[in-house]
Amino acid sequence: MDELHDAADLTARYLSEVDERPVWRPVPAAAAEWLAGQELPEAGRPLSELLADVRDRVLPYPMGNGHRRFFGWVNSAPAPAGVLVDQLAAAMNPSCAGGDHAGVLLERAVVRWLAELAGYPHRPGGGLLTSGTSLATAICLAAARQRAARADGWDVREDGLAGRPPFVVYVSAEGHSCLRKAAELLGLGTRGVRTIQVDAEFRMSPAALRAAIEADLAAGARPFFVAGSAGTVNTGAVDPLAELADVAAAHRLWFHVDGAYGALAALAPGAAPEFAGLAQADSLALDPHKWLGVPVDCGCALFADPAHARDAFSLVPAYLRDEDAGDLGWFAEYGPEQTRPFRALRTWATLSHLGRTGVVELVTRTTALARTLAAMVDQAPDFELVAPVVTSIVAFRYRPASGDVDAVNRAIPGAVQRRGRAFLTGTTLGGTEALRACVLNPATTEADLRILLEEIRLSAANLP
Ligand SMILES: Cc1ncc(COP(=O)(O)O)c(C=O)c1O
Repeated sequence: MDELHDAADLTARYLSEVDERPVWRPVPAAAAEWLAGQELPEAGRPLSELLADVRDRVLPYPMGNGHRRFFGWVNSAPAPAGVLVDQLAAAMNPSCAGGDHAGVLLERAVVRWLAELAGYPHRPGGGLLTSGTSLATAICLAAARQRAARADGWDVREDGLAGRPPFVVYVSAEGHSCLRKAAELLGLGTRGVRTIQVDAEFRMSPAALRAAIEADLAAGARPFFVAGSAGTVNTGAVDPLAELADVAAAHRLWFHVDGAYGALAALAPGAAPEFAGLAQADSLALDPHKWLGVPVDCGCALFADPAHARDAFSLVPAYLRDEDAGDLGWFAEYGPEQTRPFRALRTWATLSHLGRTGVVELVTRTTALARTLAAMVDQAPDFELVAPVVTSIVAFRYRPASGDVDAVNRAIPGAVQRRGRAFLTGTTLGGTEALRACVLNPATTEADLRILLEEIRLSAANLP
């Protein structure tokens, strides 16, 4: 198939030209109309034609996250090794639900590697790859709920939740929205989610957590799950994990750590003490498709004891029986996905290409760049930092000479994005508008950081 070679050429050209294009540009109306509105073709079209459409009508309108001046959300440029092998994963096209094939075995290895990198204890079968941390979180929460119900002498799968004391989970005010979504998905309701206050550095307060648990116990509720963050999405804050782990242990609650974005920040020089307590977690979620740049999608759920996830999800109908599955069974027994993609190949390639040294260098370089940006912000009279930089996210504000500061900061991200030279996003912190820049791309330079600040100034100056 010659088209496969053409596709490889196109991929190489696209990647080599990414930094020369606008970071992002709005999709023009006619292009959007074609992309979203086209009719299903009656007759099939040749591969070469499809490739031309991809070249002319798809590749020109990226989200922007391949560019070295993309600082939005937590979306990375793709790791070249991951891109290289993804076509081969598609060519093999296995389902990694289970069975005896390379996809499943490679997943065992990369899950172990990820645990090792994150400094999390690993036992065989102690995790699986997922679509992202949102799904990993739902899996960990379901495992925790199953363990808690069993401890109380019943089975959620058999009995449901009706007539039981309300199950309660604890997340910080800066915890990611996927925690609340997971609780809602599992039928706990938002009323089953306690939002714990944070300190001035946006870290969950252990004292407030303890007080909330005690109040719930006194009211007859059933606390069972505490979620700490190893790198919050707004500011990159790392909760006092060791203290949270102690509070959870004192009440025999499941301790979960959301390390989607930040778990690997522990690898930066001198950062490890900040992450003490992560290894005590009953579960850890992290996203290879964030800092590592594994092409989307790839998340990971890790468990201290995988038996609880298996207890929560294992359902093996007769047509899926596998007498040779071994003690660990199939991956599909540890989560809701049956057919599972070959995420392990792109993750294996990315990690193999970087090696532990390369991962440490990536984290070290990007966290250092974030500190450089923070120093620039600090020194500029028209900017201010709004949170300490502990990972690679810088949360800050522009201080206009006049006008409503909140309104200006709210308008800046869109204005910067539309100019096409840099891309950043915003958030609110403690009720005020803030800008946040997340540095993940090892190709970013100090000059790019200066351009970002310049673009913010120019955007603010030209706001209507
Ligand atoms: C801290 C944190 N937790 C969870 C998530 C959700 O992860 P995913 O988008 O992979 O489901 C994100 C995504 O940005 C995140 O930054």
